[in-house]
Amino acid sequence: MPVDEQTTKVVHVQVPAKINLALRVGPTREDGYHELATVFQAVSLFDRVTASHARGFSLDVDGPDCSDVPTGTGNLAIQAAQALAARTGHRGGVHLRIDKQIPVAGGMAGGSADAAAALVACDALWGSRLPPDELHRLAAGLGADVPFCLHGGTVVGTGRGDQLAPVAGRGQWHWVVAVTGLRLSTPAVFAECDRLRGGEHVGEPYVAEALLAALRHNDPATLAPTLVNDLQPAALSLQPALWPVLDAGTRSGALAAVVCGSGPTTVFLVRDQRQAHTVAQELQRLDVVAAATVCTGPVPGARLVEQVARNQDS
Ligand code: C5P
Repeated sequence: MPVDEQTTKVVHVQVPAKINLALRVGPTREDGYHELATVFQAVSLFDRVTASHARGFSLDVDGPDCSDVPTGTGNLAIQAAQALAARTGHRGGVHLRIDKQIPVAGGMAGGSADAAAALVACDALWGSRLPPDELHRLAAGLGADVPFCLHGGTVVGTGRGDQLAPVAGRGQWHWVVAVTGLRLSTPAVFAECDRLRGGEHVGEPYVAEALLAALRHNDPATLAPTLVNDLQPAALSLQPALWPVLDAGTRSGALAAVVCGSGPTTVFLVRDQRQAHTVAQELQRLDVVAAATVCTGPVPGARLVEQVARNQDS
């Protein structure tokens, strides 16, 4: 049976979490955001978004620790679906189901990932076939990380983090992600970063050539000392309980340990899969660590994994 917009009832999209290999925070802009220079990498920790036709816009969420995830218009995925409907003139709605593995409010762009997945899912469900640059524009209007979640891979992000340029590189990197039960709000971490800087002059942020060279040469030992996060002092200031997590990772052999984005998730670079399991096991011993997950990157951004076509009457 041909799959077209009349018969497609259910669309499944997979979307990865992001980590920041570098997160350099520059001055505050007129729109209140900070100028960023960042290197994003999409890693193999996925949310799955399922979209089906509905009259209105609704959403439900399943997964660990998702009781705080809004299910109404406060959810960026619903806003994404509504923005696409407004842009394309689509008259119906959608029901979205999100199966979450990306930590909620963890600094891994889980909410932005679901918004990117909702754009891809609704575009397929409604048959709108918006060109990629238009989807990117809609994504940028929803949040600074949403365009990257569409794109995936390893890219340099500038501006608010939404102007993307692919990075030359090859091979696969191995990571351990430690999810904690701690809470940190992204705006609060940016504000704490400003407070710690105490009004000192902040120059335009940039990504070090050494990091880009390490990515090209695919050598974890060379990449390790180049990982940097300007939000880390702020995240540690607000949540000092993250210190022992970073320490435990490096003591168990990780090549580098950094707070992920605005935290409170932490991420560890390791040599290979074997070392990843050793580090994950050690991290898992800490009371503050809810889950230590082994993953690899880069992986592609939001992708259609399945669409199930049925007759409208079946
Ligand atoms: O764009 P998003 O909603 O993900 O950003 C969340 C918050 O993080 C913003 O409201 C802002 O406080 C802070 N932020 C920032 N500069 C950026 C990105 C985010 O100050 N480039």
